[in-house]
Formats: sequence, structure tokens, C-alpha cells
Amino acid sequence: MVGLGRMGGNMTLRLLGGGHRVVVYDRDAKTSQSVADRGADAARDLEDLVARLAPPRAVWVMVPAGDPTQATLDALAGLLQPGDVVIDGGNSRYSDTQRRAAVLAESGLTLLDAGTSGGIWGLSEGYCLMVGGDEAACRRLEPIFTSLAPESGYLRTGPAGSGHYVKMIHNGIEYGMLEAYAEGFELMAAHEYDLDLHAIATLWQHGSVVRSWLLELAGRALAEDPRLEGIRGYVEDSGEGRWTVEEAIRLGVPLPALAFSLFERFRSRQEDAWSDRFIAALRNQFGGHAVRRPEPR
Ligand SMILES: NC(=O)c1ccc[n+]([C@@H]2O[C@H](COP(=O)([O-])OP(=O)(O)OC[C@H]3O[C@@H](n4cnc5c(N)ncnc54)[C@H](OP(=O)(O)O)[C@@H]3O)[C@@H](O)[C@H]2O)c1
Repeated sequence: MVGLGRMGGNMTLRLLGGGHRVVVYDRDAKTSQSVADRGADAARDLEDLVARLAPPRAVWVMVPAGDPTQATLDALAGLLQPGDVVIDGGNSRYSDTQRRAAVLAESGLTLLDAGTSGGIWGLSEGYCLMVGGDEAACRRLEPIFTSLAPESGYLRTGPAGSGHYVKMIHNGIEYGMLEAYAEGFELMAAHEYDLDLHAIATLWQHGSVVRSWLLELAGRALAEDPRLEGIRGYVEDSGEGRWTVEEAIRLGVPLPALAFSLFERFRSRQEDAWSDRFIAALRNQFGGHAVRRPEPR
């Protein structure tokens, strides 16, 4: 396991719990040591990690998508032997994965893409795995996937890149679900009824058609902070929502809810949107409607 952050660290523990031997490497030696203290075998660097594994090896990479994943794969390509398998469990863009799988195949290496869902709950609940790539390699490594996943929580989705493709769309859907819950809860929060939002989130987990894991987490968040007063309304995105919308444009598939949810995240980062000033200025121009002026500094 390369990369022992929020995901890789817990995944290692789950693999150890499943009876696997795991050699770990993190660029922070203290992190590697803390996982080694729980039963893993800590490697000093990638060369040492490769040396500690018997061929055919399986190396799971769990680092941020983009340059960190590319750099890790490049380094591993120079160390591994034909027949070895690299699994990219991060949220890499599927087209990057297709390209990387072809490059690694030239050296006799197999790249599997394991779209991984479960977040920090995966250690106890299991990780949902969407795995693309060579079928025989997937079959050989199935004991890894079934240890990480809950029952029925692993699927081989198809050729290289397809696991990351399905994970990308999974995350795109997540954007839309979060947006829908957020809007409904905001409306309830705005009403004079003084509704107990935590109680409603909990209620809807029992027999309602909108029950879900995200709603369960909404209940937890609202139990801690019923009106979310301790959190600013600033929402990051980490790529998959954008790629989902780009894919919709490429294929000409209408995706209004998911696209809107992505743009709402951008909107959340604007303090005083330029477009709103523009509209206010034009309403003033054509109708003489009042505008609000900035506070004097
Ligand atoms: N968090 C989630 O809920 C979740 C769910 C599914 C998939 N993922 C995906 O899983 C991957 C890991 O996510 P995470 O949440 O575990 O991230 P994380 O907590 O930030 O951990 C990332 C790990 O990668 C290491 N790393 C960062 N840059 C590196 C580089 N250039 N070279 C080598 N190692 C590097 C980090 O080391 P340092 O600590 O030294 O920076 C850390 O050990 C990402 O691709 C993410 O998109 C995350």
C-alpha cells in the first residue's frame, strides 16, 4: 500500500484484519511506522517496498489523483517486473487511467483501476469497489477486493479505466444528492415552524423513499450543530463532478441536476458575485431599481 492517508491507512488495517500481509510506504516515515505498529511491514522507500514483495506483486496506490499518482506510477514502473500488478485506488480521471494502463502494458505491467467509495467509514463498513482492467489480474487479486469490500460490494466493471469511469459518475450523482438534500433542509430551516431538522433526518431513515447513507450523515451533522452555525458555506470540489459534466458534453447527454450541483459549489465560493452586481447594475439602468452600495472601507 503506497499512501497511508485517510484512505490508505484504514484500508491497510482492513486488509490486515482480513489476514493479508501488507507492506506499506508513505513519504512520511512516522505515518508508515504508525501503521507498521498495527501489524503492517514498513518499507523505507518504493525500492524497499518492491524488494519486500515476492513476484507476481500487487501494489495498491492510494495517493491524490493527478501528479502524485503519475509520479508514483512512473517510479513503480522502473522497479516492478513483468507480471506485477499496480492498482490505482484513487480518484484518477478515467482517460488518464486508459493512457497509463497502455504505457505500463508496454513493460508487461498491469494497471487495475479500483474506484473506491466508503471514505473514513470504510474501515468498519467496508469499501465499495468498482474495478476496471484485465480480467485475469482482477480474478487473481479478488481476495484483496473481497476483504476490502462489504458483502456484494465489489464489481469488475470492464476494461481499464471503467472502474474510474463508474466512480466518477458515482461522485457526480453524489453532488446531485447532496444538493437536493441541502435545498430541502434549507427550506425547512427557513420556515416559521422551527422544525427539528435532526429529528426529520432521522425520521426519514425509517421507511422513507429518500432514506440513504448521506441522509444518515446529515442526521449526525445536524445532531452536532442543528442549524450548522459553526460551518461556513464554502464547498470544495475534487474533480469528479467537473469530469462528469465534461463527459456529458462529450457524449451529448443532458445532465442538468449534476451540472447545476457542480456550479452551485463554484457559487458557494463567491462572496459578492460579479454576475449579481451586473444584474443589479442593469436593473438600475433599465428600470431605475435601487442598488445597494458596498460598505465604505
Ligand atoms: N477521502 C475520501 O473520502 C476518498 C474516498 C474515495 C477515494 N479517495 C481517493 O483516494 C486517494 C487518497 O485520498 P485520501 O483521502 O486518503 O488522501 P489523503 O488523506 O490526503 O492521503 C494521501 C496520501 O498520499 C500521500 N501523498 C500526497 N502527495 C504525494 C506525492 N506527491 N507522492 C507520494 N505520496 C503523496 C500523502 O502524504 P502526505 O500526508 O505526506 O501529504 C498521504 O499519505 C485520492 O485519490 C482520493 O481522491 C478519497
